[in-house]
Amino acid sequence: MGAQCSGVINLKKVDDIIQSYGAKKSNLIAILQKVQEEFRFLPQDAITYIGTKIEGLSPATVYGVATFYAQFSLEPKGKYEIKCCDGTACHVRGSMPVYTYLAQRFNLQEGKFTSEDGLFSLETVSCLGACGLAPVVVINEKVYPQMTTDAIKIIIDTIISQEKEG
Ligand code: FES
Repeated sequence: MGAQCSGVINLKKVDDIIQSYGAKKSNLIAILQKVQEEFRFLPQDAITYIGTKIEGLSPATVYGVATFYAQFSLEPKGKYEIKCCDGTACHVRGSMPVYTYLAQRFNLQEGKFTSEDGLFSLETVSCLGACGLAPVVVINEKVYPQMTTDAIKIIIDTIISQEKEG
């Protein structure tokens, strides 16, 4: 029996979360947020479970809601969550070459946001409110201003070597 790559999740945890908010449609977003906080993404099993547990919903509806909101991730996030700003100021000052460099380095394609080793995930975000520092990259809440492909390469190299040293 091959295990699912998403792993087996603890549905009891999902159930506890549903109970704590109340199994009502109006609590769906809050429940999804809490489940994501718990697992660091929204596992397919959790989505299906929520869709069958809450009256008036279906797994397809929950899935639709989860994919609509950018805050929800249907894929496990990397240990390092990289947000590449692509607001106007950052875009104009060259955020896309930085993003493209990272996507190629982590071998990411359409619909795949996390590197194979689970270390990095990459997403674009709209203006982070730090346009004076454009282009901006955020890695796990730490802001890296005025990014270039050369600079981000050094930052990623440093993270990887730190990880290897343990
Ligand atoms: S556009 Fe990137 S911080 Fe404003």
